[in-house]
Amino acid sequence: MTGHTPKGVWVSERISPGGGLFENAVTTYWYKSKPVTVMPKKLQLHKNIVPVLRTVSKKLNYDIWTKDQLVEEISRLRRRKKYGLVWEEKPEDVVEQCKKELPILKEVSKYAIKNSKDAPTNIIIEGDNYHALSVLNYTHKGKIDVIYIDPPYNTGNASWRYNNKIIDAEDAFRHSKFASFIQHRLKMAKSLLSPTGILVFTIDDYEIHTCRLILDEIFGEENRLGTVVIVHNPRGRNDDRYFATMHEYALFYAKNKNLAEVKKFEFNEEALLSQFPHKDEISNYGVVSYMRTGNNSDRNTRPNLYYPIYARNGELSLKKERGSIEIFPINVRGEEKTWRWSKGTFLEKYRTDILLKESGGKLRLFKKRRPEIVGGTKPKTIWFDPKYDASSHGVVLLDSLFNKRGVFPYPKSLYAVIDTLKIVSEKDSIILDFFAGSGTTGHAVLELNKEDGGNRKFILCTNNENNIATDVCYPRVAKVIEGYTNSKDKQVSSLGSSLKYFKTVFVSAEQNDKNKEALTKQATEMLCMREDAFDQVKETKSLKIFKNTKQYVGIVFDENSIAVLKKDIVKLGGQWSIYIFSLSDETFEEEFGEIKQKIKVSPIPEAILRVYRRLFQI
Ligand SMILES: C[S@@+](CC[C@H](N)C(=O)[O-])C[C@H]1O[C@@H](n2cnc3c(N)ncnc32)[C@H](O)[C@@H]1O
Repeated sequence: MTGHTPKGVWVSERISPGGGLFENAVTTYWYKSKPVTVMPKKLQLHKNIVPVLRTVSKKLNYDIWTKDQLVEEISRLRRRKKYGLVWEEKPEDVVEQCKKELPILKEVSKYAIKNSKDAPTNIIIEGDNYHALSVLNYTHKGKIDVIYIDPPYNTGNASWRYNNKIIDAEDAFRHSKFASFIQHRLKMAKSLLSPTGILVFTIDDYEIHTCRLILDEIFGEENRLGTVVIVHNPRGRNDDRYFATMHEYALFYAKNKNLAEVKKFEFNEEALLSQFPHKDEISNYGVVSYMRTGNNSDRNTRPNLYYPIYARNGELSLKKERGSIEIFPINVRGEEKTWRWSKGTFLEKYRTDILLKESGGKLRLFKKRRPEIVGGTKPKTIWFDPKYDASSHGVVLLDSLFNKRGVFPYPKSLYAVIDTLKIVSEKDSIILDFFAGSGTTGHAVLELNKEDGGNRKFILCTNNENNIATDVCYPRVAKVIEGYTNSKDKQVSSLGSSLKYFKTVFVSAEQNDKNKEALTKQATEMLCMREDAFDQVKETKSLKIFKNTKQYVGIVFDENSIAVLKKDIVKLGGQWSIYIFSLSDETFEEEFGEIKQKIKVSPIPEAILRVYRRLFQI
């Protein structure tokens, strides 16, 4: 009830919670099961104030509103200030599913490829990437160096699904659905990145604005490294009505801009010749003025870089001598600038790296630029090169690889991905693509490793829509690893490496002892992935042992087997990571007494459940 009741109107119930808050505002009440708008007394005194319907409750029962009231409400909602993202309200099925079932991995062993002992083990995960990312939050939290993703572009061409329904141009909420879909996944992905990690997100004009807002929100605007325009269709899209689109975008974000590094591209032949056309006894070189120009080049910004240099008979010195000519960093407009180096560096390097030239009757100084010092070409924001053409180096490449046409319509150019990885990865990086499609990212990782002798590993996740995982992604990667004959009958040699293929499957999320035991038994693949150890050394009913080149991994399903494991540890030696089934968080560390230093013990499934409780709020 309220004191602002207009005469003749009986107010049965207030809609607004906490009436005091709205003392000076127009307020809506229930009257005979209909909302009625009234004004506070103070405002009613001003006859030019017209009441507006102000809905203040979160739970409005629109069923009982009149048509006029509904029309007014719709137009009010339409007029509301809008900037930013509108989320899809209906939860995503795959997200809800995780409240009842927990995702785990199951290996499809017929797809495993094993090469030399030291070859890195790459991973393909078939399933919805929401589930794959959940699993990775246990196995790879903070360990991924680069995430490269190329999600569906939501063009309205029925190219992706939300809640198992194809989303096309008719769906009025397709942008909100896309925003929710991307946000759920990016949030999970961010925690996988290492402190120096970088995410590369490709998209085109349909959703770039949505994605920029989401990425800015999740990563922070300050961690935006750059936006690159990639000309992936140099002919232009024929079916565009007004402009023939030639490009898409790659958005680069760092987990932490202060720790991330974007490398330079190595100079190619052409750049070397054009930028470094001269040669001396040290190397090729180009020249730039020894006087600074541009920002921070005025004398007052760095006074110690303003000093005279003396030239006599073609020789340079910091000492004035009889007959020498004094040169100051003063430009043609008479402005006092600075030199590029301090006096100390000048003295160290002037014999090899400074040139004295006469131009326009004046002596001028130049600094030599050497390719190894410059280090490469800084990546530019427009990538325009035939090698980025997604048709010839994506669609046609795939057709040639499979020796048939129409394998997959949306692959990236292999070289667009290779070049991206060149500037954001190290030789031993772990690279994740959770919209892997035909597996271009895996192919690019293998090619780049071959080119620079790297040891990068990839994790590819894709659903199996139109059999993309089993009939395109896997066979493509397998062909590249093992070598193949292309459509021109040319033998393409093997790029080596090893591969494991997993599917996402589920165990009950209800946390009773029976389910915890079941989760432990089925978590082996996740533990092997977490430790990157896939070579099985021993398997009994209650104990499994795996190894990689650095350590052993023991999984104990029954604490009575700890004694057996201890014997194995002594026999096999080396470092150990041990997982022991425990209904609580007990680690049983004391049981290992004398060999404690060699081992790290973790209880399962509690550590997995902790991650899932945080992700799914179960
Ligand atoms: C644009 S394509 C990526 C193409 C890839 N970059 C290439 O070069 O082949 C997007 C892929 O994401 C997959 N995808 C879409 N939604 C997914 C989801 N929720 N989980 C996993 N994969 C998904 C689709 O099957 C499609 O193959």
